[in-house]
Amino acid sequence: MATEAEEIRGIGHRVRRKEDDRFIRGAGNYIDDIHLPGMLHMAILRSPFAHAKINSVDGSRAQELEGVIAVVTGELMAQHNLAWMPTLSGDTEAVLATDKVRFQGQEVAAVIATDPYIAKDALELIDVDYDPLGVVINPEQAAAADAPLIRDEKEGQADNHIYHWESGDKEATDAAFAQADRVVSLDTFYPRSHPSPLETCGCLADVNPATGQATIYMTSQAPQLIRTVFALVAGLPEEKIRIVSPDIGGGFGNKVPVYPGYVVATAASLLLGHPVKWIEDRTENLISTGFARDFWMHGEVALKEDGTMTGLRVSLDADEGAFYADAQPSKFKVGLFHIVSGSYDLPAAHVVADGYYTNKAPGGVAYRCSFRVTEASYMIERLVQNAAYEIGMDPADFRKKNFIEKDQFPYKSATGFEYDSGDYHGAMELALEKVGYEQLRKEQAEAREQGRLIGIGLASFTEVVGAGPHKDYDILGIKMNDGAELRVHPTGKAHLKISSQTQGQGHETTFAQIVAEELGIQPEDIKVTHGDSDDTPYGLGTYASRSTPTVGAATAMVSRKLADKARKLAAHLLEVSEEDVELAKGRFTVKGAPDKAVTIQDVAFAAYTNFPDGMEAGLEGVAYYDPPNLTFPFGTYAVVVEVDADTGQWKVNRMVAVDDCGVRINPMVVEGQIHGGLCEGFGIAAMEQITFDEEGNCIGANFLDYLLPTAWETPRFELGETVTPSPHHPIGAKGVGESATVGSPAAFVNAVIDALWPLGVRNIDMPLTSAKVWEAIQAAKAGAAAG
Ligand code: CDP
Repeated sequence: MATEAEEIRGIGHRVRRKEDDRFIRGAGNYIDDIHLPGMLHMAILRSPFAHAKINSVDGSRAQELEGVIAVVTGELMAQHNLAWMPTLSGDTEAVLATDKVRFQGQEVAAVIATDPYIAKDALELIDVDYDPLGVVINPEQAAAADAPLIRDEKEGQADNHIYHWESGDKEATDAAFAQADRVVSLDTFYPRSHPSPLETCGCLADVNPATGQATIYMTSQAPQLIRTVFALVAGLPEEKIRIVSPDIGGGFGNKVPVYPGYVVATAASLLLGHPVKWIEDRTENLISTGFARDFWMHGEVALKEDGTMTGLRVSLDADEGAFYADAQPSKFKVGLFHIVSGSYDLPAAHVVADGYYTNKAPGGVAYRCSFRVTEASYMIERLVQNAAYEIGMDPADFRKKNFIEKDQFPYKSATGFEYDSGDYHGAMELALEKVGYEQLRKEQAEAREQGRLIGIGLASFTEVVGAGPHKDYDILGIKMNDGAELRVHPTGKAHLKISSQTQGQGHETTFAQIVAEELGIQPEDIKVTHGDSDDTPYGLGTYASRSTPTVGAATAMVSRKLADKARKLAAHLLEVSEEDVELAKGRFTVKGAPDKAVTIQDVAFAAYTNFPDGMEAGLEGVAYYDPPNLTFPFGTYAVVVEVDADTGQWKVNRMVAVDDCGVRINPMVVEGQIHGGLCEGFGIAAMEQITFDEEGNCIGANFLDYLLPTAWETPRFELGETVTPSPHHPIGAKGVGESATVGSPAAFVNAVIDALWPLGVRNIDMPLTSAKVWEAIQAAKAGAAAG
């Protein structure tokens, strides 16, 4: 029956991405590629003011423009009880402003027209009467006693404070500091940045007035969750809502929240009986959606004279913008920031966080990170470098002295995480060896004597991904568990349906490889469906590197369920008892008689044609995975820079990244993920800057002001890997999509600070533009001259 086994391209194979075929042919199917009969177009009028009372919104002139079908105002939305909506963090957010606007770019009205250009033109004909109000653009201003009240519509909201959150043991931490030989502190600001995916946000809402069926094509990273939110917000029956996320041109967290545009387009489609399409332009995307970071942080570490860290204290103020709208697990107000003790064996730690409303677009999305782990990783990795220098140690030695040892895993952190596995010394040693650390330090010393500023920066990050165990992790009460459904057809080909939505990470390939590994069906014979809420199991979405830890695990588990049934079928075909059948790489053999075998294809056919009495036909199943723990990827990054003291320009000479994400499903995909993440980390460290002037005008509304690294600026990356499997994940994998964005900004900044440390520079906040670096050098020189 079975022929000699062909090698199965399962886990560990560098299988080329199936999806790339359609992408490189220009045959991807994005929202704007979808055209429906009778489709109308929507454009949104946005506020020019950061804070202003609205006296009136008059759409009558716009309504008269030929081609305009309707002008939608907040007042109209209010008549349908849709002027406000709940956010994923349990706050409320204006859909279209009625009382006042609270940030520049806020949605005020919408025009529906026969053509997208007419819709845009008509916006200029809408007359809005505003009375500007005082503006708050950072937490310090928000907390001032005389600060304008931003959320005056909220009952019981007397100030701009949103939450106070603590983690860790204050008493134990205070005791550690009281006994410390030395305390080193750092104040740093992680600036507002934007995920800026290639494809902006948008949707095409198609509500059939006759049947009540609502099909909404949407750039969403979480179609299943959005379906439930829509059912709750609009009061529509959930079975009549279908959210389809087709191909998505990058998300990086930008496409997790529910944006007002989705709601207005859906309401307009319902009221007008036509499909309504809304696609943001670049400026709209940059000023009004999905900002990240914006954390003002203070960190302190308690030290013994020999360099042992004994305690960590961090306090921070988070600028959440006008609506607290990001998706955090509801127990954790600042996401997983309490991973801030990082890779270090810190016996005591205490974190205090306060969130504030400001007159800025909602922020706090997890831009390529597991909630707030990026800010945490940056804080601790900057702090340990300064601590090492203050105490007179090499930063690599300082880290090695304080790392959690390999045999301490599973390791319980002072803020309550249980790290699953790690080998921090291993990753660090490999990175040091690859970059030639000892030799570099010698070259740096020689260069310094010649007046050249060479810097070597390290970052040894620990991430926390895979939210999460249902006990602690939910969004709006919905547990963060995910599903996979697998059907093997009679001819042995398969169809895997997964709850997570890809935005370019290669799920159609890597998840097929998991099935291939478990059942021995080649990945190209497995179709992977995702992103259609009518046709995939429930799940909370793709962000926070959670796909592999959750959906990857569900895929392995459903494959194993099918393997159990397949073994019974194989026993039937081979006429032996089930206990005597072994499955390896798609072949079922009889123990002790390896020539007696059937393939998975034989078994699949039998599942529909020749199954034993009493057995159900078919070979299919579904599994939902509740992770027992999160996974903790880690790595060490090393960066070498040279800074030009006269101009402040700095150039990356080397960038070595050693990552450990446990078992790698597809090493090529993993390397691609790391390259992308490093590129984004470099951009954040070097140039990405969205600022606001004192009137709350957003500076960074286009790619001339908000700089992204191009191929020209991006340094070359040298990668290395160690493999420490996750002990609780069915295939030993940890997430990886975001590690490099999380870990790398600190490595770049540490390298520049390392170069400038002898001059007396202790910190420069990102982005490290030439001007800021130059100013820091000048200030240090002036300080030295004065001193
Ligand atoms: O949730 P998201 O897909 O963004 O993140 P991820 O789970 O870290 O996965 C990113 C991509 O890398 C997916 O295609 C994964 O299947 C792949 N990956 C892998 O091949 N091996 C790992 N250990 C982790 C991820």
